Amino acid sequence: MKMSSKHPYAVYIDDVDFDEMTDDLWMEIGKIHMKNLVTIIRNCNVKHKDISKWTKKWGPSRYSGMYFLSLHYPEYSAKEIIIMALKDNPKIAPAHCDLVKNRFKTKGPSGTQRVTDMRDKRGDHTGIFPDGELKWHSNEAGNHVFAPSVALLGVQNMEGSSTGFLETATYYENLSESFRSELNDMIVIHRHKPGMLHVKDLKDQEEMMRLNMNPEPESYLPMVIQSPGGIKGLHYSINTVDGIVGMSKEESGKLFEKINKELMQYAWDHWYENDNDWLFFDNSITNHRRLGEVNNRLGLRIQHGYENIQIKNYNPYFQEEHSKIYDDRLAALYKFTKDNFNED
Ligand SMILES: [Fe+2]
Repeated sequence: MKMSSKHPYAVYIDDVDFDEMTDDLWMEIGKIHMKNLVTIIRNCNVKHKDISKWTKKWGPSRYSGMYFLSLHYPEYSAKEIIIMALKDNPKIAPAHCDLVKNRFKTKGPSGTQRVTDMRDKRGDHTGIFPDGELKWHSNEAGNHVFAPSVALLGVQNMEGSSTGFLETATYYENLSESFRSELNDMIVIHRHKPGMLHVKDLKDQEEMMRLNMNPEPESYLPMVIQSPGGIKGLHYSINTVDGIVGMSKEESGKLFEKINKELMQYAWDHWYENDNDWLFFDNSITNHRRLGEVNNRLGLRIQHGYENIQIKNYNPYFQEEHSKIYDDRLAALYKFTKDNFNED
């Protein structure tokens, strides 16, 4: 196993053989990843059927979409909602039927979701984000219990495209003490802003993305949080930040302009040289994006937590009110998953 680094909080790992992988070595890689924000295992021979086996050793999968959708239908279980939605039952809103159908149509092996432009015989998409560039964002940004990590394994035609990263920790560390303390006190208002993620029209996947990014009409989250490895930075997803509590629209607009401009010096893109790189990226204080060609490209994505490798008593939020919301919502999400899908 060889390690190298070209960017702050990012590490490349080469010569990892999953045929010889042990739990000890995997947890060691997890610890290295916790000290960073982006870890890329290049030219990775993990079997597709084993993806969730390995990611679950770091922490269970994390996705709040079905939980939030279920809140609209308190009289039904998640399974009943899914069955009705797949049959276009009028008791379920059309946008929610689309969402459930899209979740099913885009399912990959081992609990993954396909990211691809490929279509089935009927002409339906078999993956999310079927075409075009993806602008800077972090997943589930307007949700206190956003997924801490995204794992993306390349499968085919990844060359000619990139996954880019914009970590906010180095930016935060290099700011003046006084601006840092202003940021520490800020509460950001997140709203869904159509067109701010995907360059092309998302059509029937729009509702899936809205519910993914910002399940409530607006949400209030602290600007400064810590990653599961204890790295401080900004929870600042460029596609959802839409205001600061106590600031006018004009004032917050100016602040966002300044941050966006200054942050860009820390942006970098991983242009694929292999079809089978496995990328693990922080989703708490890091934005990601996609550039390049995506014809017949296929990646397998899983959102997960770091419960087994994160710092002790981890909570992303330093403000008591938000730290409590996190604990309560995470407990509710775990319970929902256990009750409805028999998963811990
Ligand atoms: Fe994403």
